[in-house]
Amino acid sequence: MPLTVDKGLANTVAADTRLSFIDGAKGVLEYVGYDIDSLARNTTFEEVTWLLWEGSLPTNAQLQSFERELRADYAVDPRVLDLLRTIPRTAAPMDALRTLVSALAHFDSEADDASPAANRRKSVRLVAKTPTLIAAFDRFRKGKPIVEPDATLTIAQNFLWMLTGQRPTDAMSRALDVCLVLHADHGLNASTFAARVTIATQSDLYSAATTAIGTLKGPLHGGANQEVMEMLLEIGSLDKTEPYILGKLARKERIMGFGHRVYKAYDPRATYLKTFAKQVASDTGNLPLYEMSRRIEEIVLAQPNIREKGIFPNVDFYSATTYYSLGLDLDLFTCMFAASRMSGWTGHCIEQLAANKLIRPHADYTGPHGLEFVPRNQRGGTASTSPSVSGTMSVTA
Ligand code: ACO
Repeated sequence: MPLTVDKGLANTVAADTRLSFIDGAKGVLEYVGYDIDSLARNTTFEEVTWLLWEGSLPTNAQLQSFERELRADYAVDPRVLDLLRTIPRTAAPMDALRTLVSALAHFDSEADDASPAANRRKSVRLVAKTPTLIAAFDRFRKGKPIVEPDATLTIAQNFLWMLTGQRPTDAMSRALDVCLVLHADHGLNASTFAARVTIATQSDLYSAATTAIGTLKGPLHGGANQEVMEMLLEIGSLDKTEPYILGKLARKERIMGFGHRVYKAYDPRATYLKTFAKQVASDTGNLPLYEMSRRIEEIVLAQPNIREKGIFPNVDFYSATTYYSLGLDLDLFTCMFAASRMSGWTGHCIEQLAANKLIRPHADYTGPHGLEFVPRNQRGGTASTSPSVSGTMSVTA
């Protein structure tokens, strides 16, 4: 088959999936056929995780049993917490999370068991333990005692409990739960692709999750929500918003939280989040931040060249103020994205393994050909003191 060059793979289909459907032109996202907006309004993260993994919404009994399964796995091995305490307190939480998710494998006797049943159990562990690791690292770096998970709580409630040591209000845990639902899966985004590449080599689920976290970290992917918040804090007040944004656009700088590789219409995840973010901001005394966000949206969308390029707010734009209103430190925002996307990553890995093919594209070689080899001591420059491969060293093995 003739090779085609497709940098960024924007026009390449690299996998089949039954997890989520995106129509970027119309601004549609469905998880297993259900519109994201109705899922965000009506379901929980646990329910959506089941949906992504099982391909149907759970019955009440199934959901209760799945919640029990997840809750039984909230706690992490004390040796993982010992390792956590060796990470510099100054480390970025996403870097700490990458290390800690990888470390989970050492204390899981099934780490290299690739059977579907073991992968399913490991997926439960990864989804259940990721929030525990995030909260524990945040407590540790602040010099606070690590709070044990509470298996009577939902994932969202339990995370806020472990983070603050206080029972969250229903509104707070619901706000976090909505963010978790909205970020759970999104087609073959960069981190999911990375996870599928790793698992497709028949590596293990922990390696795939670790790969995915490293990929999500980048500011062009999951790291954007933190940058959105940094931008809002840098602007500082509503009256400074317009000159700040227009200045950025004039300098051809990107406005974080806008634009998407797939969506050339309004990101459907941002629709509900926009209304929701307002409520959360208002409840927590952060309405001015929300108003600045709205003003940024108005200014950006009023630029004809921006509209022509199909640039609209993405999910990160309004999740930033929501996380901030919940009291999360800025550098935890991307970790929350990881906690949610863990359900999509693991679901995709299991799907990949069910019909596996090594993912291995080509590169278009742009270097020279047919060069004549020149021994190192004939290449000019300062003489090297290291032994030359071309004969001065006696080779005994
Ligand atoms: N602000 C201003 N201009 C933008 C923005 C933006 N946020 N995003 C894209 N553009 C412009 C580019 O400058 C480019 O203009 P040009 O054609 O005149 O050079 C054009 O739109 C196309 O940009 P690309 O980078 O080629 O588009 P791509 O599809 O590769 O990028 C991306 C998508 C990386 C998300 C981009 O929109 C961006 O950098 N956004 C800001 C970061 C961000 O919010 N990321 C989160 C994405 S959502 C998520 O991961 C959950």
